Amino acid sequence: MTTETTITFTIDGQTIEGRAGQSIMDAADQAGIYIPRLCDVEGLHPQGSCRVCTVKANGRSTASCTQPIEEGLEVENETRELRNYRRDLVRMLFHEGNHLCPICEASGNCELQAMAYRLGITQASKFPYLQPVRPLDASHPDIALDTNRCIRCGRCIRASKDIDGKHVFGYVGRGIEKQVGVNGSKLSKTNVSIEDYAISPDVCPVGCIIRKGEGFKTPIGARKYDQSIIGTDKKQPGN
Ligand code: FES
Repeated sequence: MTTETTITFTIDGQTIEGRAGQSIMDAADQAGIYIPRLCDVEGLHPQGSCRVCTVKANGRSTASCTQPIEEGLEVENETRELRNYRRDLVRMLFHEGNHLCPICEASGNCELQAMAYRLGITQASKFPYLQPVRPLDASHPDIALDTNRCIRCGRCIRASKDIDGKHVFGYVGRGIEKQVGVNGSKLSKTNVSIEDYAISPDVCPVGCIIRKGEGFKTPIGARKYDQSIIGTDKKQPGN
């Protein structure tokens, strides 16, 4: 018989109990405290790449999705400094890709768009728009890939590898050129299927992976984030 060690720590001064080995984010979720995130999603191993979930743990910035809890840890989550940091990270994603929300079929279901609204980003900012021109792969009968909207969260890569056991997606390129590519000359030459978990609407947080013929099944105004803020707390944080 194994006994779980309970760890007691605080988030924004609130005492939380978690299990040894749990990440700060998992323990926060369990306690009903929301920490913003983009590359992490329930059911997939955390990757720790977007850094939107950054918190301060005993004064040091860390990704809460990968940082394990420790006894007595003092975590800061909803502070002005961290909100500004998260805003800048999300803004940079908008400037690095082509996120034209009014004409994107993911509008209203998009986690990047919803996170921007949650963080109060409503206008252009100080960063230059890079306006990349990346390939669109519409070769598959059921699925299209528009990497202009990719935020490199890697959720499709992990879902295809760990859940579907297929390795359809992977990273290609380095640095600012790093993108999601497919394991083949084009999507239709891979063994991807519309039934794959990697293609489910829960996996791609933006409009990069497109299920053909489904984009406007749910009308604008009735989509996931049209009526409610992203995050389990459903609360707009302060400035
Ligand atoms: Fe933790 Fe992306 S959600 S780094």
